[in-house]
Amino acid sequence: MYSEKVMDHFQNPRNVGEIEDASGVGTVGNARCGDIMRIFLDIDEEGIIRDVKFKTFGCGAAVATSSMATELVKGKTVREAMQVTNKAVMEALDGLPPVKVHCSLLAEEAIHAALWDYAEKNGITIEGLERPVSDIGEQEEEPAY
Ligand code: FES
Repeated sequence: MYSEKVMDHFQNPRNVGEIEDASGVGTVGNARCGDIMRIFLDIDEEGIIRDVKFKTFGCGAAVATSSMATELVKGKTVREAMQVTNKAVMEALDGLPPVKVHCSLLAEEAIHAALWDYAEKNGITIEGLERPVSDIGEQEEEPAY
């Protein structure tokens, strides 16, 4: 049911933890399943993501997608991090079962929420970034599981 990469990132998640005095912190939940994800970004003066950590209170797919998402944004510019969509994360994981696709949205939205926090703190705008929601369950058109 799950690819080897998903199992690997679920069993050995990368970048778990917190960053003190992070440049941006984003927390997003999905009230439908009750899962919550928090992402911490450490961004330097040049707008490069030097470090990223996450904490997920959620299902295995949420853990695996957060782990992969953090790997994909690390070392990237803020702009490049905007390209790390849930689709990109799923591709990097060799896919997710259809009922678990919504879990990957949590990772994308949590990164966006952390970027939004960073942008607000620094009085900048990031192209293509919209105000994040705290509950992505409301955005789902139909129950995905
Ligand atoms: Fe809620 Fe996966 S994130 S079931």
